[in-house]
Amino acid sequence: MTGKSGKILIIGAGVIGLATAREIAKRKIAEVTVVERGQIGREASFAAAGMLTPNLECSAEDEFYLACRDSNRMFDSLSVELLDETGVDIDLARTGALAVATNTAEAEQAIKTVEGQIRIGVQVTFLSTKDARRFEPSLSDSIVGAAFYPEDGQVDNRRLIAALFKSAKKYGVKIREKTEIASLIVEKKKIRGARARSETIMADAVVVAAGAWTDRLLATINIAPLGLRPIRGQILAYLDCRVLPKHVVVGRRCYAVPRVDGRLLIGATSEDAGFCKQVLPESLNELRIAALEIFPWLERFNLCEAVAGLRPYCAGGNPVIGEIPSVKGLFVATGHYRNGILLSPLTAAILASEIADSSFESGRNPFRPSLTTLASAS
Ligand code: GLY
Repeated sequence: MTGKSGKILIIGAGVIGLATAREIAKRKIAEVTVVERGQIGREASFAAAGMLTPNLECSAEDEFYLACRDSNRMFDSLSVELLDETGVDIDLARTGALAVATNTAEAEQAIKTVEGQIRIGVQVTFLSTKDARRFEPSLSDSIVGAAFYPEDGQVDNRRLIAALFKSAKKYGVKIREKTEIASLIVEKKKIRGARARSETIMADAVVVAAGAWTDRLLATINIAPLGLRPIRGQILAYLDCRVLPKHVVVGRRCYAVPRVDGRLLIGATSEDAGFCKQVLPESLNELRIAALEIFPWLERFNLCEAVAGLRPYCAGGNPVIGEIPSVKGLFVATGHYRNGILLSPLTAAILASEIADSSFESGRNPFRPSLTTLASAS
């Protein structure tokens, strides 16, 4: 698609939909409209922690790790661009992340993990108990060593949403909240647009970035499901912590993300509970106990917020990004599971390139929906 003659409709104004809209609009290849059935960025993107920890979570040098690593690096320029375009600082913090061990067995396992990661080129150092505490004084005395990942860090996910929204609007994207799509429209195997409750929105290309709800929209035109499952993540935040950790800290049962405004986020549960976003006191208590094991001083602070979001999980845990093979012009971007914030810059770049010119090298998008993806889920 070249020239600004085409119309692109993006369904879903979470981090993936907004980042993609902005990226397409920047290239001036089409008029872009984003529709959101609720409020901008209030689903999984809102309940995220903004962790950028591809190296800490790396288990193999596979396509998934490489994508996470590349997308992590894209935040350096993205944060500068967004500040320049909107005045919103997304609080990118390259402080590094620590994976802490709370007992000897965990420390032994961590050393093995680190050895494997070093073999594939991940930047990581294992710190002894003494070094870990010197490096991160907020840790409990009971910590038995930690692996340090200097290239990891975080962004403030809610500020990222605000910045993407403002920037997308500056590039001319039309964004409409409270606009629920009832069905997609296809004619002769080509996407034509979508029907909302009281209107039809015509489009030359449609990107469904509706997170865990994406399969419901595909079903309206009898496309086999991608097999998405909503995985609930409950997360809590402590307010006004005076001794915040300096790093993102990940333990076996929880993680902690310190924010510049004095909040400490503690996340997150992973529950297959359908489309239920309820926050449960017992889950929060489990998270609180897990956090106290790493930071006993948290006992003195009160919780200020607890939210839940539904992460879109697809079998295998990889995202699905690209054109649906049987419908020309119909794209999906979902299945980002625990890495929606992290993978948002790369997802947007892949989709913008694929929509702008169909010559995007196939090797550079390992996450295309294939007929097999669709068939195996149905
Ligand atoms: N990225 C962390 C989580 O999904 O809990």
